[in-house]
Amino acid sequence: MALPLVVGNWKMHGTPAEAFSLARGIRTGLKRVQGVEVVLAPPFTSLSAVYKALRGRSIGLAGQNVFWQEQGAFTGEISPKMLLESGCGFVIVGHSERRRILGESDQFIGKKTVAALAAGLRPILCVGETLQERRQGSTRKIIGRQLRVALKGITKNAIGKIEIAYEPVWAIGTGRNATPDQISLAHQWIRELLRKLAGNEQAAKSRILYGGSVRPENAGDLARAPEVNGLLVGGASLKAESFLSIVNQFISI
Ligand code: PGA
Repeated sequence: MALPLVVGNWKMHGTPAEAFSLARGIRTGLKRVQGVEVVLAPPFTSLSAVYKALRGRSIGLAGQNVFWQEQGAFTGEISPKMLLESGCGFVIVGHSERRRILGESDQFIGKKTVAALAAGLRPILCVGETLQERRQGSTRKIIGRQLRVALKGITKNAIGKIEIAYEPVWAIGTGRNATPDQISLAHQWIRELLRKLAGNEQAAKSRILYGGSVRPENAGDLARAPEVNGLLVGGASLKAESFLSIVNQFISI
């Protein structure tokens, strides 16, 4: 298994100047990135500023979204190659905010995953159930469907290049995180499904991250939970101090 992965998803926060200074703060605090892989996902408009701020440090860059076409009349969209040339190695696909607010379907997310991978980006594919779906006992079914559809066009040998983020919708930005037991179980289901789809060897390569109200106070317990290979951090990644304290939980494991 690769190193644990901690991703800071800045969502729609920060101008390029603000993003530069946040990235600088994180860079300064992470003198040596050891035992953990750290990736920042700023808004598109700040990718270049963050790239400059991180130069020379092994902190990766991710897009928060991508379109599946290489170029063309797709107003407002960004291609995989544009992200690559902006310094991204990763891209978040299928975030629940895009599913719910922008109406992205599983099929749509599948196309993005295929295109990102084909271009050489590592997709961070987000899946997760709503509170109602959890209460109905359909968590496993929902994340299973989201994964199967998104991974449909991916060859078995490429599945290990995809990182999965389990993000229960009810835990995102609510201050209410899933318990380590709930998380471990969902991660087990995801790993089992990956094995079914791609075999043990490929399935073992994908990192399964947890996301949803990760804070410095709960990051230690979440980082140590069985089957957790990293964290996708939203709100708490917007301050260098809190993000660094989350990253440090992995350095000290
Ligand atoms: P949050 O967001 O940490 O603010 O809950 C996580 C995410 O949406 O990736």
